[in-house]
Amino acid sequence: MKELNVKVPAVQETSYPIIIGSGLLSKAMKMVNDKFPRYAKFIVSDICVANAGLLKTLDPQGNIPKFIINPAGEQSKTIQTVISIVEQMEKAYMGRDTVIIALGGGTVGDMAGFAAAIFKRGIPVVQIPTTTVAQADSSVGGKTGVDSTISKNAFGSFHHPAMVIIDIQTLMTLDDRQYMAGLIESVKHALIMDAEYFDFIESNIENITARKTEILEAIAEKNCRIKASVVENDPTEKNQRRALNYGHTIGHAVESASNFDLLHGESVAIGIVAAGLIEEEMSLADNAQHKRIRNILARLNMPAKIPASISQQQIIELLKRDKKAINSWPKFVLLEKIGKVHCIDNQWAIDVDEKLIRKTLPKLY
Ligand code: GLY
Repeated sequence: MKELNVKVPAVQETSYPIIIGSGLLSKAMKMVNDKFPRYAKFIVSDICVANAGLLKTLDPQGNIPKFIINPAGEQSKTIQTVISIVEQMEKAYMGRDTVIIALGGGTVGDMAGFAAAIFKRGIPVVQIPTTTVAQADSSVGGKTGVDSTISKNAFGSFHHPAMVIIDIQTLMTLDDRQYMAGLIESVKHALIMDAEYFDFIESNIENITARKTEILEAIAEKNCRIKASVVENDPTEKNQRRALNYGHTIGHAVESASNFDLLHGESVAIGIVAAGLIEEEMSLADNAQHKRIRNILARLNMPAKIPASISQQQIIELLKRDKKAINSWPKFVLLEKIGKVHCIDNQWAIDVDEKLIRKTLPKLY
């Protein structure tokens, strides 16, 4: 028997620039052309982004081939939409020398990234996130995917962007509900990694909700630094990256059970309250800390309760189907204190018994 020792990179090259500023969108095509001078360009965006005028700012002549997702949002985040994107690219004679430009929120970025991961075995993608949730979280880190009819992101891959361009002016096009909900990912970053950042958010909450440019730039940079450091340490979510799921385990279940009536950030806010109750139940944190966290969530107009239309059993069933579940039960990320995740045996997500979750759920109604 002959043994061959073939070395392949363990993970894809993960270094890429993140460019943050105000009014960058009109210069973004030049940035993409400078980085990919010999590549064809293909834009993936959605109808809301187009109607908000952002597509026109990126591509004023309108002559770059594109796919516009319609309707916008989670209901279009399906494998069928990805097939349509791929087929549109084939119809436009796109080859492997094409870069996809994802202009939009988390669902656009996830779908465009997934299409880039699978088109002719993989082509580059540039992420231009236009929402608070995408700028804080989903555009950085290479997670791409689409939902099945059963669960969120059932199809997916890690496909890191070649570049991320964050124009905080694009946030001015969001309605208040979407804008505020996306800020939960910034609160999450502060809670898991950086107590000073939490203080900063707390003391600047009025400026944040008023969308002050300097504050938004500061927040965008802070988010990207935190996210990049976690992704650098653990690109494929073997351990530390799980911390980014703080509030997301119960949050995702609530989001799916609401049929996406609740926004991602709203669901994660409920998940953060749930995590706080579990922490209290396990005597990890005191009530004063939770009051402080709940106060920030309330100031961002986030819900703290699971809608009455969703049963506790539905949540339990969805937790069992969580894509990160092991033996049909997920691990949970919990805080030791603001800015620090409670690790056991160096694990950032830990076992929490189903009984304890069943005991906690009624307190969320
Ligand atoms: N959104 C969580 C992560 O990127 O790992």
